[in-house]
Amino acid sequence: MNSKAITTFNPDLPIHMTFSEQDWYLLAQHWYPIALARDITEQPTATKLLDMPLVIYKMADDLVVAKDACPHRGVPLSLGLNDGLGVVCRYHGLRFGGNGKCNRIPAHPQHKISERFHLKTYAAIEKYGLIWCNLTVNKDALPTIPQMPYWEDSDFQQLVCPSVELYCFAGRQLEGFIDVAHFAWVHPDTFGDPDNVEVPDYTTTETSYGFDADYVSSVGRYPIGMDQRGQEDFQWLRHFEITLPFTATLTIHFPNASKQVIMNAASPMSARETRLFAPICRNYDKDLPVEDAYKFNLAIFEEDRLIVETQKPEYLPLDLSMEAHFPSDRSSSMYRKLLRKMGFSPIFAA
Ligand code: FES
Ligand SMILES: [Fe+2]
Repeated sequence: MNSKAITTFNPDLPIHMTFSEQDWYLLAQHWYPIALARDITEQPTATKLLDMPLVIYKMADDLVVAKDACPHRGVPLSLGLNDGLGVVCRYHGLRFGGNGKCNRIPAHPQHKISERFHLKTYAAIEKYGLIWCNLTVNKDALPTIPQMPYWEDSDFQQLVCPSVELYCFAGRQLEGFIDVAHFAWVHPDTFGDPDNVEVPDYTTTETSYGFDADYVSSVGRYPIGMDQRGQEDFQWLRHFEITLPFTATLTIHFPNASKQVIMNAASPMSARETRLFAPICRNYDKDLPVEDAYKFNLAIFEEDRLIVETQKPEYLPLDLSMEAHFPSDRSSSMYRKLLRKMGFSPIFAA
């Protein structure tokens, strides 16, 4: 997809837009994860959210998320290094410290530094091992981050998978995560059973943040090749909580009151690039190496990659008449209906 360059001056909008302006403003009201907290140091890290290039760095306890463009001549700060007093721009050495404030202009050491030289910063906080950012709210606004069941529970172990970059729209990815009819077809090498294709009916309930879905079936979630740990006829409950627009948590109820919660937080870097973050918590297998859990979950996401990166159209058709639906699409129909109600275009992120 071609991006459209914004040629009128608007410091709030990214220069290259892959979204319509209306969808961009609606999307930019929400919080999204932009990095793993454990990856962020005092040295600058580059990323992107809703087409906006961002730089992330730390100054002591201060987390700075700013537009990745020097206010002087637009060079990315992420090219520079932090010398301990701030990130130094590669072009003329301007240095940016806590709160993104410019604290040095080497060419004019005696000049008072005007406001115009400070970085444009954004609201950001750490939660679930991730850095979350909002491009439009005031920096001290109360953050509204999706809830993750059991994350604070001391009986549970918390882990954060490495992020996965996908070349698709976040809406298509999220819809794939809540789709219960594809397990047998797409996940035969991880947890799906090619002989277990029929989908029992299930329910969805609208909530203040989106909707919940409860799906009970005989599809297990242990890695294939393992038995179901002595419980052959076990009925698995998958409880989904979907927070619009692009986050869902799935609580899987295993045998013996074991539970695993996985958050699928799809972060829209652009209309066709998504960074997927997946914090997980579980109250079993807590002594096993976390790398095994990362590996298993990343293998599942890799199985999904082929599907989400090839679906056509690439956008999410919110007008239900544009694709065919069957009963087990109940969640995806609800998802599209509610996004439409939020005001997103019928051809979402075309
Ligand atoms: S462009 Fe950054 S210091 Fe000039
Ligand atoms: Fe999947």
